[in-house]
Order: sequence, then C-alpha cells, then structure tokens
Amino acid sequence: MKPQDIGEAALNQSYLTRKTIDDVDGDAPHETFRRSLGPFSLTALGVGAIIGAGIFVLTGAAAARYAGPAVVLSFALAGFACAIVALCYAELAALIPVSGSTYSYVYIALGEIFAWIIGWDLVLEYAMGAATVAVGWSGYLTSLLSSLGLHLPPQLTAPSGAVLRLLDAPGAAGASGLFNAPAAAVVLVITGLLMLGTRESARVNNIMVGFKLAVVLVVIVAGGLHVVPANWTPFLPENAGEFGHFGWSGVLRGAAVVFFAYIGFDAVSTAAQEAHEPRRTIPIGLIASLTICTALYIGVSAVLTGVVPFAKLDRPDPISAVIDAIGLPWLAVVVKFAALAGLTTVILVLLFGQARIMFAMARDGLLPGFFGRISARSHTPAASQGLIGAAVALIAAVFPIDVLGEMVSIGTLAAFALVCLAVMYLRHSHPETPRPFRVPGSPALPALGVLSCLGLMAGLPWETWARLLVWLVLGMGVYFVFGHRNAAKIGR
Ligand code: ALA
Repeated sequence: MKPQDIGEAALNQSYLTRKTIDDVDGDAPHETFRRSLGPFSLTALGVGAIIGAGIFVLTGAAAARYAGPAVVLSFALAGFACAIVALCYAELAALIPVSGSTYSYVYIALGEIFAWIIGWDLVLEYAMGAATVAVGWSGYLTSLLSSLGLHLPPQLTAPSGAVLRLLDAPGAAGASGLFNAPAAAVVLVITGLLMLGTRESARVNNIMVGFKLAVVLVVIVAGGLHVVPANWTPFLPENAGEFGHFGWSGVLRGAAVVFFAYIGFDAVSTAAQEAHEPRRTIPIGLIASLTICTALYIGVSAVLTGVVPFAKLDRPDPISAVIDAIGLPWLAVVVKFAALAGLTTVILVLLFGQARIMFAMARDGLLPGFFGRISARSHTPAASQGLIGAAVALIAAVFPIDVLGEMVSIGTLAAFALVCLAVMYLRHSHPETPRPFRVPGSPALPALGVLSCLGLMAGLPWETWARLLVWLVLGMGVYFVFGHRNAAKIGR
C-alpha cells in the first residue's frame, strides 16, 4: 500500500480498526487493549513521565555551569519548543488515534522506511530513557540509604562503565561501578507491575505522581519564603569568554541540558488505544501535563537560584541544597523519597510506551509477531513487556548515565522534529480531512518546532551524533535483513 493510500484509509478509520483488532499476531488473535484511561489518568501519565531526573538532578549543573539564575529562561525556552511539539502531537493524536506514537504518525505520513527509522530511533527515547532514569534512581537510593547510615558497596550501586571500559570508549572514566544492581532491580519490578495490567499500573502511577507533585509544590512554597533577591542579581551572568558559559549562549546550552526534563510528555500518545475517547482525551493529556510541568519547572528553578547562590548548585541533588539552606531536615528525607517516586513513574511510563511502540511495529510486520501479542489475562503486551524490561535492566546495569542521557536527548529531538514535519506534510496531503484539534499558525509554528529541535540537537557533542549515526546504520541493517521482507511477506 502506498503511504497516501494508508493515510486515506487510516484517516477513514477502517485501516486502523482492521489492523488493531483483527490483525494482531500471536496466540490470542482476538485479544485487544482495554480502554481504561480517562483524561485524569492520561495527564498523570504525562506528568509521571516528565518530572524526574531532569528537575531533581540536572537543574543544579545547568544553573551553576551554564546559565546562572537565567536557568529559568532555559526552562522557558525548552518548554516553548516542547509546547510547539506537543501541539503537533495533539493534532496527530486526534487525527490518528492509534498506539505507537510518532512511529504510527510517520508511517501514515511518510511510509514504511521512515516509520522504521523513527521506530528504531524511539528506542533511544523510551528504552534508553528508562535505563538512564534507572541509573539516576539508583543514585538517589544510595544517597537516601547512606543518609540513614546504610552504605552499599559502590561496585554494585554506582553507574557502571563496564562495557565502555571493555571497548576502551570515551565516557568510562567517571563511572566506577561494575554492575548497577538497584538500577536493574527497579526496572524489573516495574516491568512486573506493567505486565499485571494497565489499570493497575495507572493506579500506582497516579498515587506516586500525586506524591511527587505535592513535594515539588512544598519545595516551591517553603523555598519561596526564603528567597534572597540578591541571589538573582546578576540574573544573566556575563559570558565567561566561551560559547555556552553564561550570557545568552549559556541560556541556550542550559536549554539543551534541561530539555531532558521535558522528555516523556509524548508517551501520552502511546496510550491512544487504551484511552476513552482518544481524539479528545489524548490532546488534553498532552497539553495539560506539559503545561503543569513547565509551570512547576520555572517555579523550582526560580526558587533554587533564589535561595542558594547559583555557583553552589553544581551537585547531583540540588533540591537538597535548598532544604539545607532553609533548615528543614525532615523535608530533606521526604524530598529524596519524592525523587525516588518521581523517577519510578518516569521509568514506568517509558517502559509502557516502548512496549506500545513495538506492538505497533510488530503489527505492521516490522518486528517479530511476538511483540504484537496481547495477553488474554492482563490485556497488555505482557511477553514483550517482559523482554523489554530484561533488556533495559541489563543496559541500566552496565552503562553510565551521561552517555545514556545524551543518546536519549538526541534520539528524542530527532523524533520531535519528524512529528512537526508530519503535521506539515499531512496538512498538505490531506487538507480536507476534519481535524478535531489543529495546531494554530501552521505551517509557521510546526516549522519553528523543527528549527527549535535542530537547534537543541546542535548543542550536543559530536560523539553523541556519531553514536546516533551508528545506531541508525545498525537499524537499517535490521530493516533490510528482517523488517522489510517480513512486512512484504505478511502483506503490509
Ligand atoms: N523527563 C524525564 C526526567 O526528567 C525523562 O527524568
């Protein structure tokens, strides 16, 4: 089928209905997803995926090294870019309410090979993202336990550089661990929960999201009462003579770093087949979760730099610096628990999204049918979820966080740029199709979205670009050896 035909059929719903219900491979062909998520759970899913390592870990370094108090502007800038992308996602999600997120949209807009590239690329955002955050989770657990007097051996808890050392690759130097056991363990436990069922997972997610939101609000209010306005002057420290070190270029570099904090809102769109009225609820979930998180991020970063002089924020737990400064020791422990809960929900939603994207790819024949099986008992792709969990646990156990994190950012930005392009393309190829939600100011705004994503990608080191290229070349190999032939064989 030509992309245009797929587009027509998909936009008319018939293709989607056939493919999602009757064409699922595996031993339970008539099993399908159960619609159990409303606008509240979808928004919680978005917030669950968004607030995590970005705000709890990266903000301090972004302020201390690159932007100073103007890290608030870095957050606003990255938030602005993500807002454009979220509007584009919302238009596509309302137009094409299927599982698989960007993958499905790109398939319908640009055809199989582009869809494969983006599906392969999304593994960086979802699977690698979950692994990255699991390594951050392990760091917070170790720090919480040691503040309670319990010290775990660093070989089994620190970020691991084992594989990089074996390959003599850059990035191993700061990673002293051998096998990051807590990182692997948290991934496996969450995987177990996801295999139980979407409703059960959403319930746990809602509770943890409520807790982390409450704690973030307490930090904003308690910190807000202790702001020393002098810490905000100069608001935009003068450039230190090098691109990216303070001044406006520092704000830009800061935005590229804190972009990580926004990753995950698009996971809402992977839940389209498990949502009630997805054409209405998915756009609500996307936009509401991003709006809530942007406001909180700006609040937290203003409080951080207002309470503590920005040069003192270069630490992995910057929020603890605020708590120390305002002298509430009990809150320090609560914040660490909230960070752990926050990181847990990020891992949960990213693992959830990865299984849904692979489900969509298997349905189209681009991955083995195993990934397209839905369990009759839990109504989830349980077997695939288990395999993904095992692979992510292994990656989290043997790779360090910075190498993983940069791969996640570049992979996500590439996907976001394609989503904006897909909106522009479909507006052109299917101008008449009714759109329950429309990005305002198209094509200027989606074009600005593409440029913003490319601008943020340009801020990442060349090694990250090289790794992205190697990953994509590997993906093309898999496509020509398996995906392309298999998709043709099963007639997709
Ligand atoms: N946005 C997520 C985080 O900050 C990935 O942890």
